[in-house]
Amino acid sequence: VNHLLGIKYLNKKDIDLIFETADHFKEVINRSIKKVPTLRDITIANIFFENSTRTKLSFELAEKRLSADVINFSASQSSVKKGETLIDTVNNILSMKVDMVVMRHPNPGAGIFLSKHVDASIINAGDGAHEHPTQALLDTYSIREKLGDVGGKNIVIVGDILHSRVALSNIFALKLQGANVKVCGPRTLLPKHIESLGVKVETDLRKALEWCDVANMLRVQNERMDISYFPSTREYTQQFGVTKKLLNSLNKQIVIMHPGPINRGVEITSDVADSNQSIILEQVENGVAIRMAVIYLLAAKIK
Ligand code: CP
Repeated sequence: VNHLLGIKYLNKKDIDLIFETADHFKEVINRSIKKVPTLRDITIANIFFENSTRTKLSFELAEKRLSADVINFSASQSSVKKGETLIDTVNNILSMKVDMVVMRHPNPGAGIFLSKHVDASIINAGDGAHEHPTQALLDTYSIREKLGDVGGKNIVIVGDILHSRVALSNIFALKLQGANVKVCGPRTLLPKHIESLGVKVETDLRKALEWCDVANMLRVQNERMDISYFPSTREYTQQFGVTKKLLNSLNKQIVIMHPGPINRGVEITSDVADSNQSIILEQVENGVAIRMAVIYLLAAKIK
């Protein structure tokens, strides 16, 4: 059985194939062909133990556009609340003849654990502060779409790197595609050995923005935060918040990204998020084609 558990387990060729497949699906969607019959005999369960807007809706739309049968499971409205375990929950869902599971879970490694205990293809839709592979794929794909090539581009990931699965998966994906990657944030929100992943650290936001072609702005993950880690929100915004004034003072036009949800006025002001430098909604749009590609390629191995 094949899975997408993290970018860590992929190589450059895997990512190139996903991008080429996503190109095809994006072209199909752009021709207003909303649905293809490709996965009519596949059933997919989306099981979410953590809240989501973009990832959940985008997976569901991708599955429906491929004509898969879809069931949705939200832990907060389920028998998990009565104490049912993860493996029991998923095995019960699988006994209804489900072929593929898309799972979001607050525990790092939850997808890896599940893949060892159940007989289905698992797609990790975010596991705690570990990985969010489809987000990194859609982010890297969006940079490729905007700048032509990711190789050799300077990308800075700004914010709460310590608690961010988006940061880790992006670092793996961007490095595989040959980008130069820096991380920028308060020392307290940077993992200690982050340089061992081949990235550089910059704690001065202006210097980071002057260096980069693209800035991927991350949300401070208050839900994963021990309060002692954190500078106050006001201090964070003063030192690491991107404003239009700051962008206008650079001698070049950089691309602004954000995985969402945005804390408007904290890591990014509205006039930046909604400006023509921002590709935030293009990222969301590309998420559907990327997830169609991932599901299609995994399903081809099931059939
Ligand atoms: N980017 C992202 O994972 O957003 P959601 O939490 O809304 O799915």
